[in-house]
Formats: sequence, structure tokens, C-alpha cells
Amino acid sequence: AASKNDNYVKDISLAKWGRIEMEMAEIEMPGLMALRDEYKGKKPLAGARIAGSLHMTIQTAVLIETLVELGAEVRWASCNIFSTQDHAAAAIAERKIPVFAYKGETLKEYWEFADAIFHWPNGETANMILDDGGDATMYLQLGTRAEEDPSVLGEPKSEEEKFLFDTIRRRIKASPGWFAKAKGAIRGVSEETTTGVMRLYQMAKRGELAFPAINVNDSVTKSKFDNRYGCRESLVDAIRRGTDVMMAGKTAVVCGYGDVGKGSAESLAQAGCRVSVTEIDPICALQACMDGFAVVRLEDVIGEVDIVVTATGNKDVVTVDHMRSMKNMAIVCNIGHFDNEIQVEALRNFQWTNVKPQVDLVEFPEGHKIILLSEGRLVNLGNANGHPSFVMSSSFTNQVLAQIELWTKGDQYKNDVYILPKHLDEKVAALHLPKLGAKLTELTPEQSDYIGVESKGPFKAEHYRY
Ligand code: NAI
Repeated sequence: AASKNDNYVKDISLAKWGRIEMEMAEIEMPGLMALRDEYKGKKPLAGARIAGSLHMTIQTAVLIETLVELGAEVRWASCNIFSTQDHAAAAIAERKIPVFAYKGETLKEYWEFADAIFHWPNGETANMILDDGGDATMYLQLGTRAEEDPSVLGEPKSEEEKFLFDTIRRRIKASPGWFAKAKGAIRGVSEETTTGVMRLYQMAKRGELAFPAINVNDSVTKSKFDNRYGCRESLVDAIRRGTDVMMAGKTAVVCGYGDVGKGSAESLAQAGCRVSVTEIDPICALQACMDGFAVVRLEDVIGEVDIVVTATGNKDVVTVDHMRSMKNMAIVCNIGHFDNEIQVEALRNFQWTNVKPQVDLVEFPEGHKIILLSEGRLVNLGNANGHPSFVMSSSFTNQVLAQIELWTKGDQYKNDVYILPKHLDEKVAALHLPKLGAKLTELTPEQSDYIGVESKGPFKAEHYRY
């Protein structure tokens, strides 16, 4: 995939626009800018070659330049075919940072780009991974297994898997032994999201994790902010940009009431929708009730709802049978990481009419149509611009701290999944308070004795749930 300039972007002339928006984003990303100041001239990431697979947005561009300022070399791809902001990719490419991403890339290109981020021009490979959803990690993992036993690449179960398998086969043919070498060079991975973290814990359980991993998602300043308050802003933004439909008064159902579901339900409620929720977990179901949302089964409401949003990180949540009984022009979208929450593959034989990029009408044999956003891929990055900068600063400050930790102290970790210590989580939050004009109260010595915490923190026990 690498072109002679070692990047693959849509249009380099968008770089100026991207740069202006990056400069605006920097003002809204105090955590990342504080790390640039703190480590000025110190280059803690010197020698790190980071393969990054994370939505190539304006906010990610600010993350990338932070990593570079701290001494890293990076190569970047997006972790979703629809999530790249082409002006952000152009601004990064213009600074001669290799980036392989454009909005609407094909699945074939997606896996070629995933391969390209591991190859340095001098023949070296990456020694760190910064992942979102786990595809970059999985690419090395599966490739290594396929090198030992080609039969692990069986019959592909989807179009996506077909291209993944093809890319792995081509790589093995072109450079035998490459996967084992590339995997062996990795010192650690930091993982951004719930779904990627789930994959890492499964790998660790099977004893397949070949390097230490930091679960960035479960920093409080990530999942309780980005997943929740981010989606609270970006879900309705995406539905509006995609459909221009009047939100107030509509009935909406959110599948899953975890962090993303909570933010999504709130987003819809703020827009005036009448919102209900589906859950499998009694605790989250009870939370939904207490927050004022009806907890329902999808089958019971599917014929009446105007908007269905999946936020479970699970698969087959909205089935083709559900969609068969939907209202005409009901809106269907997913804000979870992968598109398998909605059975989109099963809709391929029906009549599709493209309205504009990432908006399709799908007509059922029964006669009704649904409005499907981003072909079931995460709607806030497909139809809108993802979360705002401020909340991504909080997530990405954790990412940078995780990369520094793994790069400088990786040998002190086992091949397991770790969470950043609470004092760093509190530090990330503290870096974002001044921008909001917030003033913390300081404990008196008597008070800190009384509640049993140090006056400078950590302020909560590990078991505290926020
Ligand atoms: P979570 O684990 O907090 O919440 C998921 C919820 O779905 C859980 O409460 C679970 O009980 C419920 N659930 C599972 N199967 C279900 C089913 N069949 N029906 C109804 N509910 C079900 O996870 P979180 O952090 O909310 O993430 C959800 C997804 O969103 C993940 O794929 C994650 O990677 C992704 N994500 C997307 C973001 C975006 O910007 N679009 C941002 C952050 C995360």
C-alpha cells in the first residue's frame, strides 16, 4: 500500500484545512498539550516505532504529533473504513508522518493499510502497537499462527475476513517468517476501546498474549468520559447529519446500557426523543429504570420505534427479522465498535438505494424501507466527526501515558493486561480541570486522616466505581 511518499491519503491539498482544525483542537486538548510541556526535550519515546490503528481524525492527529514530539516514530492507519477525516490525514502526511487512511477505503485496502503500519522503510518493524478495537494486534497474532499452520485461515465467514486472510497469505508468501519476527519485536500494546480490551483478555486467558497490554479503556478518565459524554454529543450529531430527521417526539430504543449506551440514551433524550433501553444485565437494566428509561425487549417494541441504536459490543443484536418488522423509514444504526451488532450482511440481497455517503435506504420484500447509517459501522465516526476534542484529550492522555509506561518499563510487566495506576488516572482528570475553570478543594491534614487518604491522592480505593 505504501506509495513513494510512504503515505496513502485522499488529497494532500486538504492539509492546510486539517492544520487549522488541529490548531483549534490543540486548545481543547489540554491533557495532550500538558504532556508535551512536561516532557519537553526529554523524548521518553525515543526509539519507539509505534504502529497506530485508530480512527484517523483531527483529534488523533494531535495525538500522533504528541507521540512524535515525545520522540516516537509512528506509522498510522484508521481502525474503521469510514472514520478517517481526510483533512486530518492530509495534515499528518504533509509533516512526512506515514499515514494510510481515507474515508471510504475498501476492505481490501483496510487490511493492506493494517499491514503497512508495521513496515519501516529501512526494513525494521514496529516495536509498539497503539490499537483501537484490536485489529492491529490480531493481525500479527493470526498471521503468526497462520505461518505455523496455514489451515487456521479456514473458510472466511465474511467479506472482511476474506480480505484479512488474503492479506495474511500474501504477506507470508512475500516474506516467510515475517509475522513471527514482527510479533517478537513488539514490546507492548495500549488498547483504546471496550471491544479491543475484551479481545485482549480473551487472548491472555488462552495464554496467547505475546506482550504486555495496557487497557486504556478502563481508566476512569477514558470509559466514564469518552464512552459516555462523548457519545452523548456525537450520537445525535451523526443521526442529524445523516438524516436531517426531526428528533423531538420520535421513539428510540438503545440496545445496551453500558457506558456507551448511557451516553447514547442521554443524547437522544436531550434531543427530545422518547427513549427505551434493552439490557441483558439486571444491574444496567435497573440503572436505566432509575434514569427514567423503560427497559424493554426489542421484539416487543420493534414495530413501533423510529430509531434503533446498538451499543452492546455484542453481535446479532438487531437481526434481519427485527428489521423485517420495522416501521417504514425507521433509522437503524450502531455506535458499538464492530458492524456485526446489526445483521447487515443479511440485507445485501435486498434493494439498496444510496442517498449519500454512509446513508442507505434498504427496501424489504415486505415493502417498507429502513434508513441504514454507515452500513452498520460506528455511526458517530461514519456519519459525523466522532467525539469532540476535549473528551478525546482525556482518552489520548491515557494512551500517551500507557505508551511511555510500556516503552520505558515494559520489561517489568508480564504478558498480561494491565490498567494504569489510579494516580495517573487522577492526573489525567486534573490536567483537564483548569480549562473548565474548576477549582479543587484541598483536604486538611485532619480530613485526610479521617477518611484515610493521602492529601495528594489517590483519593479513592481501587474498588470505588465512580
Ligand atoms: P459496556 O460493556 O459498558 O456496555 C455494553 C452493554 O451492553 C453491557 O451493559 C451489556 O450488558 C449490554 N449487552 C450485551 N449484550 C447485549 C444484548 N444482546 N442486548 C442488550 N444489551 C446487551 O461497553 P461500552 O464501553 O459501553 O462499549 C460498547 C461498544 O461501544 C463497544 O464495542 C466499544 O468498543 C464501543 N465504543 C464505541 C465508541 C464510539 O465512539 N462509537 C466509544 C467507546 C466505545
